[in-house]
Amino acid sequence: MSSSPFCSWPVVLLLVLLCMVARESNGASNNVKVGSISKVEDADNFHIYYGQTFKVIKNAIDGKSYLLIQNTSRMAVRTKYCTSRIKSYVIPLLNYSVDTQSSQGGIPLLGLLGSLKGITSDAVASPCVLKLLEAGEVVKFEKGAEEVSQFAAHFISDTDQLQTCNFANFFPLSEGTPLQRAEWIKFLGAFANLETKANQVYDAVKASYTCLSQMAAKRTTSFKPIVAWMEYDKNFQTILRFKQFLSPTYIYAINFVYKNLGFFFRWLMTPGGGVWCFTKEPHKLKFVEDAGGENIDKSINKITYNVSDPDDLEALHAILCTVDAVIDETLSSEPQNYTKKTFLDNINLEDNSCFAFNQSIWRYDKRVRKGTTLEDWHDGAISQPNLVLADMIEALFPTGNYTTSYFRNIAKGEGVIDISSDMCDRDASLPLAPTIPACG
Ligand SMILES: *[C@@H]1O[C@H](CO)[C@@H](O)[C@H](O)[C@H]1NC(C)=O
Ligand SMILES: *[C@@H]1O[C@H](CO)[C@@H](O)[C@H](O)[C@H]1NC(C)=O
Ligand SMILES: *[C@@H]1O[C@H](CO)[C@@H](O)[C@H](O)[C@H]1NC(C)=O
Ligand SMILES: *[C@@H]1O[C@H](CO)[C@@H](O)[C@H](O)[C@H]1NC(C)=O
Ligand SMILES: *[C@@H]1O[C@H](CO)[C@@H](O)[C@H](O)[C@H]1NC(C)=O
Ligand SMILES: *[C@@H]1O[C@H](CO)[C@@H](O)[C@H](O)[C@H]1NC(C)=O
Repeated sequence: MSSSPFCSWPVVLLLVLLCMVARESNGASNNVKVGSISKVEDADNFHIYYGQTFKVIKNAIDGKSYLLIQNTSRMAVRTKYCTSRIKSYVIPLLNYSVDTQSSQGGIPLLGLLGSLKGITSDAVASPCVLKLLEAGEVVKFEKGAEEVSQFAAHFISDTDQLQTCNFANFFPLSEGTPLQRAEWIKFLGAFANLETKANQVYDAVKASYTCLSQMAAKRTTSFKPIVAWMEYDKNFQTILRFKQFLSPTYIYAINFVYKNLGFFFRWLMTPGGGVWCFTKEPHKLKFVEDAGGENIDKSINKITYNVSDPDDLEALHAILCTVDAVIDETLSSEPQNYTKKTFLDNINLEDNSCFAFNQSIWRYDKRVRKGTTLEDWHDGAISQPNLVLADMIEALFPTGNYTTSYFRNIAKGEGVIDISSDMCDRDASLPLAPTIPACG
């Protein structure tokens, strides 16, 4: 072995490694090719692999590999895959459309609204998308319409539909924790060579989330506040009864169908006594834990409570007596009319003075799109779970100092904010900076 350290193999290897690391971390290189990469750290349902002139996203949602071919490579003009295993897309996407009946969280944060050209409904929670729609920059077309084929990609998260070659399954809601859902911003970033931006946003959101949860964990209260996520259903009894056997994905899909085709179910099922149930969706329980609270017992959230049944009602009231904060997720077609009184009526109670949560009854529909049941909770909140966590911490440990983003306290008569295009006060084609609440 040579005595000069610069000639020894281990050092050469080390230098090569260092170069690779430097190349990865110095992602802002102007050489678009594969200048920067995203590494999926938390999410379970997709992975990204990088080649010189292409990337591959392995998507567990549809079991396919998406071959993303750089437009500068020769492969871009020669290759087109659309098989049961592989789909190909030429990137960066010149344009794309989104099935807006599902989440699009992350698009404004990446500054990708400029190439958004089509949406399937105007029930969107982003004021700037509404503005682009009004200006004719974005067109609305019916779900399933032929127009969809003209876009370089069409992002969907309602996987139960006929998919053509340009469809891409973007499904953050399939993940179990808030951060895993937020990390899907890297999936979108890959289609636009915006890895650097996507990594920055995710790192900032994750750091904020982590800081807030560490701050919450340091609280020294003798008892952790107990939180119940609960939902009342007047009409949707049959499926609700089986909810405990369903995965969050299915529950999301069912809620989605219910929200959009609710009239059909109402016609199909005769309303009787409504039932209450407690959530067991993992990401919601995680928010409570990370905010320094405690979820109601697991054995309880398996059960549904029929308010017409006196025994059930008594049991429900007894459980509620142990709870410090309630998050009422009940679907409402008129969120502005869902008040504390609505909640008390639904739990069959005139007076809640005996309940510890009488000052803390929350809903996540603070930001809603007027005339629809769409809440920003199902959209923007997915890519910024740090804001949800900050809301949750304020709900559990009120300071009166913090203005919540998604939660409103109906016990204190807080109302809703209607999302409209005039709330877009920025250049929509520029990235929206993630909001980072004070921490520490
Ligand atoms: C590739 O995409 C970039 C960014 O949209 C664009 O500027 C460039 O003209 C495209 N190149 C080709 C060969 O299409
Ligand atoms: C979208 O981009 C494709 C190329 O990927 C182009 O052929 C098509 O005309 C564009 N469509 C719209 C609506 O801009
Ligand atoms: C609730 O109880 C009432 C009265 O016992 C009954 O008519 C109704 O079918 C029940 N609802 C459900 C969903 O079980
Ligand atoms: C809901 O509230 C609005 C006023 O905000 C009122 O005009 C409307 O009648 C209410 N709807 C119901 C069903 O009470
Ligand atoms: C809320 O409950 C507390 C006891 O937990 C009670 O002293 C207070 O009067 C109640 N307030 C309302 C508005 O019911
Ligand atoms: C409210 O905020 C001010 C300034 O940010 C701070 O000094 C005060 O302690 C806060 N109050 C509470 C109850 O946290």
